[in-house]
Amino acid sequence: MDKYCVFGNPIAHSKSPDIHAAYAAQTGQQLTYEKRLAPLDGFAAAVHAFIAEGGKGANVTVPFKLEAHKLAGALTVRAQAAGAVNTLIFGDDGSITGDNTDGAGLVADIVHNAGVPLAGKRVLLLGAGGAARGVVLPILEHRPAALLIANRTVATAQALAEQFGALAGPGVLSACGYADVQGAFDIVINATSASLNADLPPVPASVFAPGALALDMMYGAQPTVFMQFAARHGAIVRDGLGMLVEQAAEAFLAWRGVRPHTADVLQQLRAKL
Ligand code: ATR
Repeated sequence: MDKYCVFGNPIAHSKSPDIHAAYAAQTGQQLTYEKRLAPLDGFAAAVHAFIAEGGKGANVTVPFKLEAHKLAGALTVRAQAAGAVNTLIFGDDGSITGDNTDGAGLVADIVHNAGVPLAGKRVLLLGAGGAARGVVLPILEHRPAALLIANRTVATAQALAEQFGALAGPGVLSACGYADVQGAFDIVINATSASLNADLPPVPASVFAPGALALDMMYGAQPTVFMQFAARHGAIVRDGLGMLVEQAAEAFLAWRGVRPHTADVLQQLRAKL
């Protein structure tokens, strides 16, 4: 049986073992997938120990995504762009390749699960931290009409817009602070960690175009404050559970060469929240 795991600290809450077990059963792949608590100062050692035990790959979650990026000897284009790694692939030759499937997961959830194409749309991305940076390239690849990155610390948003500016068409990518967001958007993505503290990025309610999709990367049993705000102003709301399931499907594809179906797994996880 090929061995996989997810490294994090804390890790007890992780749903990844359930998701990958379901994908393995569905696709007939022979593998095991477990949770591994890595010490805060012992991530690299934990990865090397897992490889020595015959591990074939791993997912990486908070707080090790930047360290995983440093540890990988090779990076996929999307992991380079994200500056962070959530998926490691261990080669038989001892190589460690870093990938990042978070952005592809978000885009798959929007386009396939929500059924909202990004092409030609006006997209507002709230936040400019690690979570936001990971989704900029996959969004731009779908050719939105506009992608505005808004952040509390404006300089961080501007740096992101500069980093990815050459990949976007003229005038497509821009950055500003929350108070300066103007116009309405078809898709509004909350990539801030504000929801963790039941906070709301202070954007005007006018950002939601009629029938807009509002997606919070966070999830829980109850809608986040951002989802409640968006729903009050007419948006169709979505949490981050679909993104979680889709990033796992992308990692499964990278490891096993087969992309599992996600709809049933998403429904089962939702029922357990
Ligand atoms: P993550 O990996 O979750 O993206 P991060 O890199 O620390 O974590 O980034 C957190 C993001 O949430 C940042 O964009 C942060 O804004 P700043 O860059 O101004 O710090 C944003 N954020 C966190 N708490 C927030 C709040 N209460 N209101 C608005 N934005 C918040």
